[in-house]
Amino acid sequence: MSDTGQAGCLEMKLCLLLLLFCLCHLGLTEDPSPGAPDVFDPVDEDEETEDTLHGCRKKAFSSEEHQAIGGAIEQLGLQLLENLPIGPQQPNVILSPLSLAFALAQLTLGACNETEKLLLKSLHAHSLPCYHHILGSLVPHFRHTSLDVATRMYLRPGFEVKLSFVEDSLARYQSRPVPLVSVEEVNQWVENVTNGHIPNFLESIPHDVVLMLMNAVYFKGEWQTRFDPQATSKGAFYLDSQNSVSVDMMKSAQYPLRLLDDPELEAQVASFPFKGNTSFLIVLPLPGRANVSSMLPKLNISDLYRRLPQEKTMQVNLPKVKLQYRQELQEALTNMGLGSLFSGPDLSGISDQPLRVSSVRHASTVELSEEGVEASATTVVTSMRSSLPLLRQLSLPLRPHRRRLLDPPLHGHRHKPCS
Ligand SMILES: *[C@@H]1O[C@H](CO)[C@@H](O)[C@H](O)[C@H]1NC(C)=O
Ligand SMILES: *[C@@H]1O[C@H](CO)[C@@H](O)[C@H](O)[C@H]1NC(C)=O
Ligand SMILES: *[C@@H]1O[C@H](CO)[C@@H](O)[C@H](O)[C@H]1NC(C)=O
Ligand SMILES: *[C@@H]1O[C@H](CO)[C@@H](O)[C@H](O)[C@H]1NC(C)=O
Ligand SMILES: *[C@@H]1O[C@H](CO)[C@@H](O)[C@H](O)[C@H]1NC(C)=O
Repeated sequence: MSDTGQAGCLEMKLCLLLLLFCLCHLGLTEDPSPGAPDVFDPVDEDEETEDTLHGCRKKAFSSEEHQAIGGAIEQLGLQLLENLPIGPQQPNVILSPLSLAFALAQLTLGACNETEKLLLKSLHAHSLPCYHHILGSLVPHFRHTSLDVATRMYLRPGFEVKLSFVEDSLARYQSRPVPLVSVEEVNQWVENVTNGHIPNFLESIPHDVVLMLMNAVYFKGEWQTRFDPQATSKGAFYLDSQNSVSVDMMKSAQYPLRLLDDPELEAQVASFPFKGNTSFLIVLPLPGRANVSSMLPKLNISDLYRRLPQEKTMQVNLPKVKLQYRQELQEALTNMGLGSLFSGPDLSGISDQPLRVSSVRHASTVELSEEGVEASATTVVTSMRSSLPLLRQLSLPLRPHRRRLLDPPLHGHRHKPCS
């Protein structure tokens, strides 16, 4: 990053990338855009009493509440990073904890009993009141920044889903039910909402898949200070202390940057400002001293942001790269204690038929250029029946009704019908 021919590693830079773009956005939520259309209203009307009871139905949440959610998302991201294999096949780990949090949170809406507790715990949300309301309230907020979040729910025609789950997903996460027709259609949606950055996301969809909870995020940030394309030239980029590759290197002799040397973390931390109020955080382990695995447990991104010094101009070399990452997360999530999702979860808030999660897939991309950063990610939680349905199949309408016709609240605050 400085002119010292930084022997930091590419994988480190990039694995932290998306972590931070979610956080800097969460940091700017002090003034939740009063003009934001309240898309939740129609479905929410009949819930007013119970939500008001819990104080969750406020239009605007405080910045402390948003930051608490930001911290929870960060923890989820770091924990997942610690459990993902970093190997020669995929040296760069790029994750969007935000996308992952949306996917698991949506599943939590339909989870009951121990499964719900387990999911809330892994989301670091067990002690955060109104988690779903606050996380969901970020969706329209993001639309006013350079980050887009899109969600939807694919339902196999004929699959019996509980109306309350569909309604809650729509109310909290604006996730619309869509009939699952083909892998091509699903992939086309992902490609559309990631601005073409993630084509052909899924190879196939097994015929016994009945439900897919999906989201995608797309981010485009323009550097406050652009790099001059004329100055870009080939340079060595160190993957680790021994190996380097030749890449296009963007160069600036005087770049305004907040740079912190953190002796405890044994890393250099730099924040590149984007236009608007977001920034791009790079954490580079000091060569030969730290690595991804040794740093992760010590990393506290909100704390790093707080400690970054004032901006100074300095010489900067930044690689011009485009990277992508795809990963099935079942093993990492199992290592994190979520194995029961894949064997025998209680998803009775979704359907009376026993279901299990069959896959959680994540894909992400990031591209650094002279103008700025473009990044995208998508996550899908796929579920299938865990045994043959005993009941005669009965299809419910895919479009939810405005009023809840079935499933009145069972007990005061729980409107989720857990059988
Ligand atoms: C919830 O879990 C408890 C203990 O694990 C069990 O006794 C109870 O039957 C479960 N409730 C439902 C609705 O499955
Ligand atoms: C993708 O975008 C195209 C063009 O806007 C649109 O016609 C198509 O319906 C979209 N497909 C999906 C699955 O969203
Ligand atoms: C950035 O933040 C400042 C102060 O917090 C605010 O005045 C300004 O409107 C914000 N700009 C954008 C583009 O959000
Ligand atoms: C990372 O650093 C720790 C402690 O410094 C060391 O024990 C570990 O072997 C290193 N891991 C890799 C992959 O280099
Ligand atoms: C990160 O640091 C902030 C303050 O610096 C602190 O409030 C927060 O609890 C820390 N988070 C963790 C997980 O240690």
